[in-house]
Amino acid sequence: MKHLYIVANWKSNKTALEAEEWLTYFKNQFDQNNIDFTNKEIIICPSFQALTLAKQLVDNLKIPTKIGAQNISSFGPGAYTGEISGEQLAGIVQSVIIGHSERRINFAETDEILNTKTQNAIKYNLTPIFCVQNENIRVPQGVKIVAYEPVEAIGTGVPDTPENADKVASLIKQKNKEIVAVLYGGSVTSNNVNSFTSTENISGVLVGGASLDPAEFFRIIKNA
Ligand code: PGA
Repeated sequence: MKHLYIVANWKSNKTALEAEEWLTYFKNQFDQNNIDFTNKEIIICPSFQALTLAKQLVDNLKIPTKIGAQNISSFGPGAYTGEISGEQLAGIVQSVIIGHSERRINFAETDEILNTKTQNAIKYNLTPIFCVQNENIRVPQGVKIVAYEPVEAIGTGVPDTPENADKVASLIKQKNKEIVAVLYGGSVTSNNVNSFTSTENISGVLVGGASLDPAEFFRIIKNA
């Protein structure tokens, strides 16, 4: 059975209390449904302010998920007001989303900055989930997991076709031999998730809007 990564990107949503409610609901769903998750690696990426709480809940309640961050500083520790360094993230999260189009567009993150962020993540043993918007985007050295996310599919309710996403995933792997998994992201729901995860070259999904509702996210995992 193919190993699948199912990643939730909450973006700038959910207070710490809402994150706690989500995780508690998710844990109950998991306990009440007898689902085999063994080939499914679930990674929840809350905002920074909820990361520590989420990590504690996952550990204490034994929730079968990992915690990821949505960003990492391109600097190290030190005098960088407002930034969160790799050193600070290590121990809380296992992975970090880098290169999302929302950061490239709204925060002017260049290939160079994204490369530095990637190397900072790797230095602290954090797995980058590196987002590319098409097969021609540069993937930094050391990246093993890429998420193909066409900009026009994000938050629009209009996903890419599984056929095209599979083709792009294949091209990405051909160009970057280090990559072990290409995920698809952009308007993934419980209704369409399997059309992507059942393709030859796609090994999971990065889910935005539909991950905010724990019941829907649970269905996504179930159907993947
Ligand atoms: P969406 O977002 O699922 O809401 O389209 C995906 C993403 O931005 O990672």
